[in-house]
Amino acid sequence: MRQAGRYMPEYRALREKHTLIELCKNSELACEVTLQPLRLGVDAAILFADILLPLEPMGAPFEFAKGEGPVILEPIARVEQIEALRVIEPEDGLGYVLQSIRTIQRELAGRVPLIGFAGAPFTLASYLVEGGGTKQFAKTKKMMYGAPDAWHALMAKLSEVVRRYLRAQVEAGADVVQLFDSWVGQLSPADYQEYVQPHVRHILQDVMTLGVPVIHFGTGTHTLLESMRDAGGHVIGLDWRTPLAEGWSKVGYDHAVQGNLDPTVLFAPRKVAELHAERVLAEAAGRPGHIFNLGHGILPETPVDTVQAVVDYVHEHSPRFRTEHAGGPVKSAHS
Ligand code: CP3
Repeated sequence: MRQAGRYMPEYRALREKHTLIELCKNSELACEVTLQPLRLGVDAAILFADILLPLEPMGAPFEFAKGEGPVILEPIARVEQIEALRVIEPEDGLGYVLQSIRTIQRELAGRVPLIGFAGAPFTLASYLVEGGGTKQFAKTKKMMYGAPDAWHALMAKLSEVVRRYLRAQVEAGADVVQLFDSWVGQLSPADYQEYVQPHVRHILQDVMTLGVPVIHFGTGTHTLLESMRDAGGHVIGLDWRTPLAEGWSKVGYDHAVQGNLDPTVLFAPRKVAELHAERVLAEAAGRPGHIFNLGHGILPETPVDTVQAVVDYVHEHSPRFRTEHAGGPVKSAHS
């Protein structure tokens, strides 16, 4: 999940001087921000970028309006707009992200793995069609149900761009990639299978051949976990609404899982946050293939001390769970 961001004072200090997009487009600054959370002792770095970055070179520019989140300047409402979207090569228009990966890997020098990422087509389409964030997804679903040909054309273009983009990130040096389908939990299983799954499959079945672990994440996905697993991913991300043990049994123990501490637990007193972390570890029961993580992105006002306490707690206590588990040897996520 997100590691950089407004909860870290050193990030806020950089943001006073630069916009979010400037940080993303300057590989040295993106590298600096990517490395900031490592002082907490986390086990991986996540590339500093944003899921929306491919939209600009595709022909759908956006802005981050203060306090409002992303705003798409010309939301997609007509078929001609979909036809005009460009299926770009990542080097054309997203070369700066690939450069960031190379810079970060040089600086990391093998200390921890680097996670690259992209937004999944449903989540990206929802921003394009709604013009920004939404609670109801009414315009998105209006297109999905009312103009399925246009919907599938839009999803196909996004999927091809995302497939190429994740491939390029791996080729540039990403050790792991994560696909964020943050808002896909808005769909029923039948709608997911009809309107989303073939497109996600197009991306993941290709990216899974590259020899790096692939994480497939969404929120509100309790009824979608099996369908998401079938679409692809060596690791399935779980949010906190689904108890981890239940989510893992749905996904199957031949897959790894990631999750799933509720990010708002980090606002609780330290002892309470540790108790919740312990519960997540207990649910994983020391099985091989659990990546401890938040169940969604970290919130801006989160106290850094509590994040540090949870990182330390997990490092101190996960060996205990590991030795208690009767299972076989620890396998890598993609074996
Ligand atoms: O370390 C990291 O933070 C990793 C880089 C990262 C960012 N965005 C940078 C960012 C990652 C992995 C993302 C993913 C992302 N971006 C998602 C999927 C993950 C999720 O949380 O579900 C989504 C939906 C977006 C789109 C987006 N970008 C939103 C909705 C916002 C919030 C806007 C707001 O003002 O609340 C952003 C902004 C953004 N992207 C921030 C960061 C660190 C916020 C910090 C800032 O404004 O400086």
